[in-house]
Amino acid sequence: MRVHFLTEVHPSYFIQNHMLNRIPVLFILVLLTCGWNSAGQENNPLKEGAKACLRCHGEPVYTLINSFTDQSQKKMMNPYLIIDSVKFHQGVHRTFNCTDCHDSGYETYPHSADLKMMPMANCLDCHGGDDTYAKYQFERIDEEFIKSIHVQHVGDKFTCSSCHDQHYYQSVARNASSVQEIVDYNNEMCKDCHGSTAKYRLLTDKMQRPLNEIHDWLPNQQLHFDNVRCIECHTQVTDTLMVSHNILAKEQARKNCSECHSANSVLRASLYKYENLQSRSGKGTLNAVIQNESYIIGANQVPALKILSIIFLVLALAGIFTHSFFRFLKK
Ligand code: HEC
Ligand code: HEC
Ligand code: HEC
Ligand code: HEC
Ligand code: HEC
Ligand code: HEC
Ligand code: HEC
Repeated sequence: MRVHFLTEVHPSYFIQNHMLNRIPVLFILVLLTCGWNSAGQENNPLKEGAKACLRCHGEPVYTLINSFTDQSQKKMMNPYLIIDSVKFHQGVHRTFNCTDCHDSGYETYPHSADLKMMPMANCLDCHGGDDTYAKYQFERIDEEFIKSIHVQHVGDKFTCSSCHDQHYYQSVARNASSVQEIVDYNNEMCKDCHGSTAKYRLLTDKMQRPLNEIHDWLPNQQLHFDNVRCIECHTQVTDTLMVSHNILAKEQARKNCSECHSANSVLRASLYKYENLQSRSGKGTLNAVIQNESYIIGANQVPALKILSIIFLVLALAGIFTHSFFRFLKK
């Protein structure tokens, strides 16, 4: 396992927090635990430390010893504080102890109230300026992210974690075997907030309109939401970044059908560019797009239209034929 990282700390972190003295300790802890864990990671995936927290945070009901009655007692866990242990295990940070990121004060329960105020590291604090992760271009992503409408409107309350849960993060697009898998995972990220009042209200007091109402100009809406990512229409496609992170203002969103439904579709440079998909693509739109330079998405796929056009053709031919037949007789 590679464990070089944490050579630099993101500047905004310094501006936001005064708890700097904790950072080195946290980083060293992460470093050590990752190093120690390099053997047997697959067989023994979750750390004991993580299991200790998940005893309570992995279940809807947890047990504690009531210090007044000295008896064990069951209580309900706040659903927003439940960590899905299966998803945690699938994520890139599965080898972590919870206290590699959270303060070790959490090892005692009841948790002390001021732990809530502890600043948390963001992606750049750990991954910024580290060659091990160069292929992900964290710094470029950060630059794009800062330009996005979210940061422009909401400020630094909007973080990478607003979209990427650090507990569950995995790079789906690079590993997925189908376009649908990518689209589902990506769109869930946006819908998790643009369809949830609680998460949205953490960031703004504005009312939000339902997504299907906002996009009522788009025909076959569900089919589109199942086949393209929100970011296909809401970002400018960049050649040099795997995933564009600059979410544009709504006025700049893509509404022009022919940008996708044409031979040089923007989707060739975004959703359809992943090599892992191309080697595995069997039937379907992606394959057709790769194999046929002039293929137009959606063009051959409305069976009713296909049948209708054949009927029209037959009728037209029949018309011409009858017409010329009678002209021939009259002569
Ligand atoms: C005995 C059960 C129990 C154990 C063990 C436990 N927690 Fe908690 N934790 C809770 C409960 C209940 C809450 C809800 C708030 C409260 O009651 O303090 C909570 C709240 C939290 C919060 C949210 C604080 C906030 O409101 O922002 C975090 C973060 C947290 N725990 C992390 C951990 C970590 C990390 C561990 C392991 C080192 C851990 N907990 C172990 C029961 C537990
Ligand atoms: C890679 C770092 C990382 C690891 C590992 C990690 N957490 Fe977290 N956790 C975070 C961050 C960051 C937040 C704050 C999210 C936010 O407020 O945007 C958080 C928030 C929480 C919360 C509060 C709920 C919430 O979403 O705000 C709980 C509870 C929690 N973590 C429990 C755990 C438990 C239990 C484990 C171990 C199984 C764990 N965490 C491992 C980074 C981590
Ligand atoms: C506390 C430090 C820390 C934070 C915060 C953190 N990471 Fe990580 N991340 C790591 C470490 C350490 C590894 C290597 C884990 C391993 O190899 O088991 C890792 C692994 C990864 C990988 C896998 C890299 C590879 O190619 O194997 C990705 C992708 C990743 N993190 C993305 C993120 C994103 C996105 C965020 C923010 C949402 C984030 N990380 C937040 C420390 C962190
Ligand atoms: C508005 C939501 C959103 C925000 C905010 C966001 N991302 Fe992303 N990010 C995405 C989506 C969507 C993807 C594509 C996910 C996939 O399929 O792998 C992605 C992918 C990534 C990838 C994988 C890129 C690759 O080359 O495979 C990394 C790394 C990443 N984001 C890091 C970050 C960092 C760092 C931040 C904060 C500076 C951030 N993201 C903020 C939505 C977001
Ligand atoms: C086919 C392109 C397309 C797709 C796919 C798409 N959008 Fe949009 N979206 C637009 C356009 C164009 C507008 C501006 C509509 C207008 O102003 O009438 C818009 C508007 C919005 C707005 C602004 C709402 C407001 O008025 O404040 C939000 C939020 C939004 N979209 C989120 C999403 C999310 C989340 C997804 C994925 C589930 C998504 N969009 C998928 C094109 C698209
Ligand atoms: C954690 C919550 C959250 C997530 C996740 C999120 N958004 Fe947003 N988004 C917001 C909030 C809050 C606003 C309103 C900002 C404002 O105007 O105050 C917003 C505004 C927007 C707008 C309208 C911008 C305008 O011009 O008014 C668009 C478009 C948008 N988001 C698209 C997306 C897309 C696409 C994704 C997924 C890649 C996404 N959002 C993920 C919270 C979120
Ligand atoms: C971001 C790219 C994008 C944009 C913009 C877009 N579409 Fe699509 N559209 C698609 C994709 C991808 C499909 C699904 C094709 C498939 O795989 O079957 C689709 C499917 C369709 C279908 C259904 C065809 C079928 O397979 O049954 C119709 C009709 C359609 N689009 C019309 C429109 C119209 C009209 C607009 C403009 C208002 C529009 N689309 C804008 C990408 C887009």
